Amino acid sequence: MDLKLNDKGVVVLASSKGLGKACVREFAREGARVMLTGRTEDTLKQAASEIQAETSQEVFWKVCDVTKPTEINALIEAAKKKLGRIDVLVTNTGGPPAGTFDSMKDEDWQLGFDLVLMSMIRAIRAALPELKKNGGRIVNIASSSVKEPVDNLILSNTFRMGIAGLAKTLAAEFGPDGILINTVGPGRIATDRTKHLDEKKAAQAGRSFEQVREENTAVIPAGRYGTPEEFAKQVVFLGSWANTYVTGQTLLVEGGMIKAY
Ligand SMILES: NC(=O)c1ccc[n+]([C@@H]2O[C@H](COP(=O)([O-])OP(=O)(O)OC[C@H]3O[C@@H](n4cnc5c(N)ncnc54)[C@H](OP(=O)(O)O)[C@@H]3O)[C@@H](O)[C@H]2O)c1
Repeated sequence: MDLKLNDKGVVVLASSKGLGKACVREFAREGARVMLTGRTEDTLKQAASEIQAETSQEVFWKVCDVTKPTEINALIEAAKKKLGRIDVLVTNTGGPPAGTFDSMKDEDWQLGFDLVLMSMIRAIRAALPELKKNGGRIVNIASSSVKEPVDNLILSNTFRMGIAGLAKTLAAEFGPDGILINTVGPGRIATDRTKHLDEKKAAQAGRSFEQVREENTAVIPAGRYGTPEEFAKQVVFLGSWANTYVTGQTLLVEGGMIKAY
């Protein structure tokens, strides 16, 4: 299948590691010009040179904390200059802090909102003129919590629902401009985030990390955690020109773990 991504300009937020980085790698493999972002210059430089060496595709990077509106605007301006155009925006964030209702103060709720939802709204707003001009694609990275809440992750469970609602609404608002917008929800993909959550759960429950991994894996019909590459391939399809008619949808990549429709 020709994804028609050659020379397209792609910005992936929060992409120095994990799922975002895997998306950058897959877009670069398809010949796109990609901008990597994250908060740490050293990690960005390292990720860019690694992907460049693997794909022979020039990869650009810029420091951007997605909770800071001015940094999002500066990123989009830099991407326009470096990539020449923005055709695809992949919105991603770091995971919000884990915890239950009792453990969250106003500051935590505000951080969850700014990090998970407002960052995506701001990035879409900043990139919109380019996306309208090019009949672009937007793919939001959310969570399987869009369909079924995850224990001890109340900030994710609350604000990711907003991403799905936003995308469904924008699919209608941006449809006449030729923009397609979709949401992809990961469930137990092996990254630093799942490692951190599993370590935390093990410490809280007084069990070993291996025991927690075993219990978590037992409820996944695929019998294992997914890989970032498996996840990224779905993002790249939805963010490509092989996708011409899927918009406003939420796709889970979770090995069959979620029972909800
Ligand atoms: N992996 C899964 O199975 C899974 C399941 C459900 C939901 N998710 C969600 O999917 C998203 C990506 O997960 P992941 O597994 O790839 O996580 P990860 O491995 O921890 O990577 C997170 C990435 O986000 C960047 N980042 C963190 N905070 C940022 C900020 N404020 N501004 C800009 N960049 C920031 C990190 O780089 P720096 O720290 O250098 O900035 C890193 O590149 C997260 O929101 C996570 O909660 C993942």
